[in-house]
Amino acid sequence: MSDQAKLQTGGESYEFPELSGTCGPDVVDIRKLYAKTGQFTYDPGFTSTASCESGLTFIDGEEGVLLHRGYPIGQLAEESSFMEVAYLLLNKELPNQGELDDFIYTITRHTMVHDQLRQFYQGFRRDAHPMAIMCGVVGALSAFYHDSTDISDPEQRKIASHRLIAKMPTIAAMAYKYAVGQPFLQPKNDLSYTGNFLRMTFGVPAEEYEVIPAVEKAMDRIFILHADHEQNASTSTVRLAGSSGANPFACTAAGIACLWGPAHGGANEAALNMLHEIGTPDKIPHYIERAKDKNDPFRLMGFGHRVYKNYDPRATVMQKTVREVFEALDVKDPVFETALQLEEIALNDPYFQEKKLFPNVDFYSGIILSAIGFPTTMFTALFALARTVGWVAQWNEMISDPGQKIGRPRQLYTGPTQRDYVSIDKR
Ligand code: SDX
Repeated sequence: MSDQAKLQTGGESYEFPELSGTCGPDVVDIRKLYAKTGQFTYDPGFTSTASCESGLTFIDGEEGVLLHRGYPIGQLAEESSFMEVAYLLLNKELPNQGELDDFIYTITRHTMVHDQLRQFYQGFRRDAHPMAIMCGVVGALSAFYHDSTDISDPEQRKIASHRLIAKMPTIAAMAYKYAVGQPFLQPKNDLSYTGNFLRMTFGVPAEEYEVIPAVEKAMDRIFILHADHEQNASTSTVRLAGSSGANPFACTAAGIACLWGPAHGGANEAALNMLHEIGTPDKIPHYIERAKDKNDPFRLMGFGHRVYKNYDPRATVMQKTVREVFEALDVKDPVFETALQLEEIALNDPYFQEKKLFPNVDFYSGIILSAIGFPTTMFTALFALARTVGWVAQWNEMISDPGQKIGRPRQLYTGPTQRDYVSIDKR
């Protein structure tokens, strides 16, 4: 018998079961609240709401802990690969060598896109934001792969999942190529997932592209850090879209649209733009004061998080990766110094301490991506590329739950009560 949470309302007393997970906060199961009390809960922004049960990713915001199927993000970032993490998220366990080889073989052979899909790019302006292209092209995938849109068929779910994970690098690289006016490059099956992406992005037909191992490793690690993150806004969007029975390509396009926002995945682009706007460290105090000013909409982009009230463990790995990439490419970027000093000043400022605002995954990622050669407009597209693994894994977890229902929140209505229509000559 589970513990019961008691609620007194309307002169009545009610009990609701308390449920415990393997770790993290217990939940009060209020699924019968409306039927019993005629009342809804009220939680705009879902600050205290568990929307689902999941075994994929666990975050302890107070301790700065992030686990994927129980494995700490720091270990996965150091020891694993993006393809292995993708397998883990999709299949619950780390693969053995044979399982990993088979998975990589399958993903590799889905990296090509339908040749007609290339024509979609011609419809965009050359200066279209890559996220606008990703929304459109990924949503259009469902028009090409009718043989993998029956979500009730586990085999079709599997093929669609593999297609999405495999084709995102190709689609993202094509968005970049279209923006810079260079020809698209086809994937090469003898390259790694990440090496293939780097070549399709930065390679040119006139010469062989040499994948730099340190850059490939850094990029692969960045993909790992962005793979999944519990029920964030874009993942919740994918789950909500999927709950209606929409096909996984459409659900992923919905996730891309949500991720684009500067409060979410768009923060990596906004953070680097902010660092460039700040310019030199002597300007930092002015921007810190602006971030604290309630009348100023300016916020420190790449700082703060709904869940982490401690250091985002991904930011720790990201900062370390900046140094590795700078050393490998022998680059120096004064903006990194500005970022380090901004972090130092902010973390010692009472405002940021009191509100528990720490750098998040987006604070340093832009510096690395910029050093590798990506324009800021591509940063969120890279986030979407990596997060597709999490979206697909979360979607599969939801769809394979026989008890899942369409998501349909209610509201606190504060509009007019019923009134009669007034003809226009009487208004
Ligand atoms: C991602 O959810 C996820 O897991 C997301 C993500 C993932 O992997 O999927 O981790 C990826 O989206 C990371 C977050 C990227 N966004 C940014 O870096 C944008 C800047 N950060 C903020 O917009 C904000 O911190 C959020 C959106 C991230 C979190 O917002 P919350 O939880 O709704 O918190 P809040 O806006 O209510 O802020 C609490 C207080 C507020 O002050 P008060 O109204 O209480 O006085 O802190 C202040 C805010 O004004 N605050 C900031 C701030 N972030 C919050 N003040 C200055 N600079 C900031 N960055």
